[in-house]
Amino acid sequence: MTDYHCHLLPCIDDGPASVDESIEMARLLSKAGYHTVYCTPHMIKGLYEADNDSVKKGISDLQEVLNRKGIALKLLHGREYFLDSNFMDYINDLMPLENTSYLLIEIPPHTYPGMVEDSLSAIKRQNLIPMLAHPERCELFFEKQVTDAPRKKASLKNLLQRINPSSRPLPPQKEVSDNKLLFWLIQNQFAFQSNLPSFKGIYGEKIQATARYLDSLGVYTHSGTDAHSLGGVNKLFGFDELQ
Ligand SMILES: [Fe+2]
Repeated sequence: MTDYHCHLLPCIDDGPASVDESIEMARLLSKAGYHTVYCTPHMIKGLYEADNDSVKKGISDLQEVLNRKGIALKLLHGREYFLDSNFMDYINDLMPLENTSYLLIEIPPHTYPGMVEDSLSAIKRQNLIPMLAHPERCELFFEKQVTDAPRKKASLKNLLQRINPSSRPLPPQKEVSDNKLLFWLIQNQFAFQSNLPSFKGIYGEKIQATARYLDSLGVYTHSGTDAHSLGGVNKLFGFDELQ
């Protein structure tokens, strides 16, 4: 299993506060069945601004320790870019997920679709594919808004099946409204990364419902833990309950 979104590096963002904590997180991720983890520290101007070389150095240092301790986990680099008005400052120095063309991006809670479309189009022009980090946590996609939006019930299901014939069909009782941004993202064949804690209800019912809804549409292409701490990993996999 590959974890496509994880804050495993120590002291670089709001992830683990020490190398020891990173090691224990890695140990538990391996125990949970992961063999590869993308280390994706935040890139948020004014808050977390480590440069790409620091991320790579942090990964090689941590990988060396894990190898020494016999923890079988391969670390790869990436970033989680915050799609605010400062994002364009980084457009010529973007770090996609290692060995891929995917760029992990987080849509801010208070934004508007036009800005999202402009920024993602700029990423495309860099020959990269935007990967939306945990869209189920973004209120633009909350299940209620998507399913209850009035009139013009364009068929997202048809669109999805045209683009990806193998995508799972919608539950029959659900009318799908035209969430234009969601339509646009699917049409452009961007990637969608779900957070495991969303499905487990760790962020609450609304996000869980949205995750299940987006999953029922078949939009998710990748999955991640978005783990930030040892406590978070313990909670996610129930290891603390086993002790
Ligand atoms: Fe994250």
